[in-house]
Amino acid sequence: MHRRLFLSATALSVLSAPAILRAQSGVLGIYSARHYDTDRQLWDGFTRATGIRWRLIEAQADQLIERIRSEGANSPADVLITVDLGRLARAQQEGMFQPVQSAVLNGRIPDNLREPGGHWFGFSMRARVVMYDRNLGLPAGLARYEDLAKPDFRGMISVRTSSNIYNVGLTASMIAANGEAATEEWARGINANLSRPPQGGDTDQIRAVAAGQGRLAISNTYYLGNLARSQRGADREIAQRMAVLFPNQGEGDRGTHVNISGAGVVRNAPNRAAAVAFLEYLASAEAQRIFADGNSEYPVVADVPPNAFLQGLGSFRQDTLNAARAAALSPDALRVMQRAGWR
Ligand SMILES: [Fe+2]
Repeated sequence: MHRRLFLSATALSVLSAPAILRAQSGVLGIYSARHYDTDRQLWDGFTRATGIRWRLIEAQADQLIERIRSEGANSPADVLITVDLGRLARAQQEGMFQPVQSAVLNGRIPDNLREPGGHWFGFSMRARVVMYDRNLGLPAGLARYEDLAKPDFRGMISVRTSSNIYNVGLTASMIAANGEAATEEWARGINANLSRPPQGGDTDQIRAVAAGQGRLAISNTYYLGNLARSQRGADREIAQRMAVLFPNQGEGDRGTHVNISGAGVVRNAPNRAAAVAFLEYLASAEAQRIFADGNSEYPVVADVPPNAFLQGLGSFRQDTLNAARAAALSPDALRVMQRAGWR
């Protein structure tokens, strides 16, 4: 009896993890770059709704992409979830995704938040905004991203490095709106207005402004939302002090740049139908609530309002540039920023 147990354990250990996973037919293989406590509710919600069980592999997006590539045709990956449009686009370029045509997904997810060929879909959204200390107020003359390059704002801007994927996305949207030459001038202006050399993440820019280093932080909305619900009182205090400018809201202007967290069906998905059903579940009202709230993001579907914190920031109009177009302009954006000297 003991011996038999020992043998079967040994037999299992010589199979690679993917082989075990793949052998469990009908089990959805979720590869996720999200790491939020609430995600478990999503996977379980899918099982409740469909009866389909799941196995989860969590890692950073680049590691997941590498893993799917090395697993090749035997990959147990059905769905790949990442937290940024640049990485979704990268996964697509590497041939990771297969196209999906789904009336549910096409009906519920706005055009600009999904790849036109159905290779990936946005399931939550964040805006890249300007944050400032509400006690000091917003400096006069600032309403658009373009304004950030004006000499009026010397020494005021805290922002992370040019290689950061959110800055690349924003700059790509500037190229789409204004062309490459004007965007290089803009990036030069941003660089001239920095309060300190680019460093840290978006939260560090918010903290810098709260500490009086610079007046303006460029950040994604969810970093403020996550500070607002932090366990630490000092973080919640910072969140209370900060106000948000949604840029480019004027009459006829293009709106505020948004980025997405999203997913697609993996090219060699062993459970394709289940994978599509899973994406459709992520677009349901129940899942949208969980998906967005896990990281203080905006739901992408019209029938689910954002959480109370985001509602408190007020509503805004979004730049409807297609996320895939922004992703396609990303290499140009990075070059433009680097030519402009933005570190
Ligand atoms: Fe982030």
